Amino acid sequence: APDIPVANVQAHLTALQNIATANGGNRAHGRPGYKASIDYVKGKLDAVGYQTQLHTFTYNGTTGYNLIADWPGGDPNNVLMAGGHLDSVSVGPGINDNGSGSAGLLEVALTVAKQNLQPQKHLRFGWWGAEELGLIGSTRYVNSLTAAQRAVIKGYVNFDMTGSPNPGYFVYSSSGQPAGSTTIENALKAGFQAKGVPTELTSVGGRSDHAAFARANIPTGGTFSGAEGIKTSAQAQKWGGTAGLAYDRCYHRSCDTTSNISATSLDRHTDVMAHALWSLSGAPARTAT
Ligand code: PHE
Ligand code: CA
Ligand code: ZN
Ligand code: ZN
Ligand code: ZN
Repeated sequence: APDIPVANVQAHLTALQNIATANGGNRAHGRPGYKASIDYVKGKLDAVGYQTQLHTFTYNGTTGYNLIADWPGGDPNNVLMAGGHLDSVSVGPGINDNGSGSAGLLEVALTVAKQNLQPQKHLRFGWWGAEELGLIGSTRYVNSLTAAQRAVIKGYVNFDMTGSPNPGYFVYSSSGQPAGSTTIENALKAGFQAKGVPTELTSVGGRSDHAAFARANIPTGGTFSGAEGIKTSAQAQKWGGTAGLAYDRCYHRSCDTTSNISATSLDRHTDVMAHALWSLSGAPARTAT
């Protein structure tokens, strides 16, 4: 799988930060910064040949948006999805939560196009709205599908917080959640292993959008660099960083800006995203930038 240049991911984060700054400091559901974020991601994907769809819903009296992007080709009866939420909380710009996963997904999707990747499976990406209000967008998306449309989605991989400044390298535990996929867990662990990064399994339960897919019995997994939890000394020994401090001290705060990102964590998690999507989709395992 390709090594994703972290500078490209950081450039998307800068764009999301600028969008927040120009729109009252946030990218929250129902606020102009959210729709501007959607337009930014959609514009990039449309330009390289994705089939994109805005999935519109109403929540709290306001219009919400999911962005669905299909890469043409692959087996329509065997769909691999990857996604993350694009909305922030209202108190800040949400650059780690979840600009990081969103920007990584965007750059991986652009790399698929650049390589004109032709995997065995059909690849679909999703950016979800209103996650911060209770997994609203992803739940509405899953509920909008027919039973047949749900049945062809063979896996969903979630990325919510990948650039935490005091990072962990967590992989969602397949045994710790409903519809957890050992196949996805193993692909993600293999990606970190290929980079020499030790991982821990974590039980994320219902705390992010994979849960909407799990409720429909779609196999799920994901990676996570940590939120309000405190790094232990054993973790600081193997991962670096500071024991006794939160993985992300700016979680759900106004200081979740582009300064609140570990470039190393962002780089590693994004490279692992590519590694796993290439292997899970049955893409040729070539190396390229
Ligand atoms: N979904 C949480 C949020 O957006 C963050 C989180 C992600 C927590 C993954 C645990 C696991 O606030
Ligand atoms: Ca990289
Ligand atoms: Zn959040
Ligand atoms: Zn989040
Ligand atoms: Zn591998």
